[in-house]
Amino acid sequence: LSAQKDGYRYFMEKEIYEQSLVVGETLMGRIKDNSIILDELSSLDLAHIDAIKICACGTSYHAALSACYMFERLAKIRCNVEIASEFRYKEPLLDTKTLFIVISQSGETADTLEALKMAKQSGMRTLAICNVDNSSIVRTADMTILTRAGIEKGVASTKAFATQVITLWLLTLYVGEHKKSMDALTLQSEIAALLRVPLILKVSETTHEKIRRLSKRYLHGHGFFFIGRDIFYPLALEGALKLKEISYLHAEGYPAGEMKHGPIALADSELFTIALMPKNLLYDKMKSNVEELSARDSTLLVISPEPFELADDFIKTKPHTHMMGEFFEMMLITQLLALEISIRLGNDVDMPRNLAKSVTVE
Ligand code: G6P
Repeated sequence: LSAQKDGYRYFMEKEIYEQSLVVGETLMGRIKDNSIILDELSSLDLAHIDAIKICACGTSYHAALSACYMFERLAKIRCNVEIASEFRYKEPLLDTKTLFIVISQSGETADTLEALKMAKQSGMRTLAICNVDNSSIVRTADMTILTRAGIEKGVASTKAFATQVITLWLLTLYVGEHKKSMDALTLQSEIAALLRVPLILKVSETTHEKIRRLSKRYLHGHGFFFIGRDIFYPLALEGALKLKEISYLHAEGYPAGEMKHGPIALADSELFTIALMPKNLLYDKMKSNVEELSARDSTLLVISPEPFELADDFIKTKPHTHMMGEFFEMMLITQLLALEISIRLGNDVDMPRNLAKSVTVE
């Protein structure tokens, strides 16, 4: 993939549009006859692994949190996730029956690399999910699965995140298959859902234009809450991070069911709630959380396949039969929303202030 903008206004925009293609790369050769092929893991004896621990920073940390829901729900393996800079100094109790995974786009993030070294020293088996071959993290880990996103130039990560989640989904299915914790039918329908993602990630011009028009209503206010439940909670965290990184507006990702324990006190018309309301997962629970916010006058942007009468703005998603179809479509929408808000504010989308593409110092 070329290092030019190819007619796009920013690299970030180009990278958002590329996601459909690069996710196809991530999947290439890794699914065969309803089975997951990850030759990278040939030296891994899953019979000796009974849990997974993942360490990462930033956007990669959000991919890790998403994976945690998949590992437990689908592969029935215990999973826990930690921010690498926290993990390093907490004197963690490490267990050699736990597989240690690090996720890093660059493979050079200092905190993640150090966390990996600690795990290795403790005798754990280590696996890197990484976009850059021959990076420090790849050279240190016992095994690596490359995410194949191609060069990512925008400081705010987009296609790297999408390919990380796809890789982790593949890995979940691989673990489920090899540990026999997933039945054949589930595996088959998961594979079918995975193969639909490239199509879901094709940007529709109509949706992009709608988001562009809508973005002018979200340039002020005293804050944004991106809310979601289950795996849509890490997606909410990622949506908020994208917006903060390039718009410099205050945004938080929050589990929708937790709003009542504090943040709802902030609700008024100048508080913008971006609600991720998938149809395939906890729709009614989410609905009542959003109704509470609406009753407190929060301005609501609902992203859902189902029209929501209380919404001030509504972005309609396509009907999907699998929650991950909804996950990827909503990911795309939140990325475009951050992009368009940032452009309207006149910010440098690709080089936001105070941020670096990879943080190689502590
Ligand atoms: C920096 C970047 C983020 C990125 C994080 C982790 O803070 O600005 O976009 O998510 O590092 O980077 P990594 O390369 O380890 O995924």
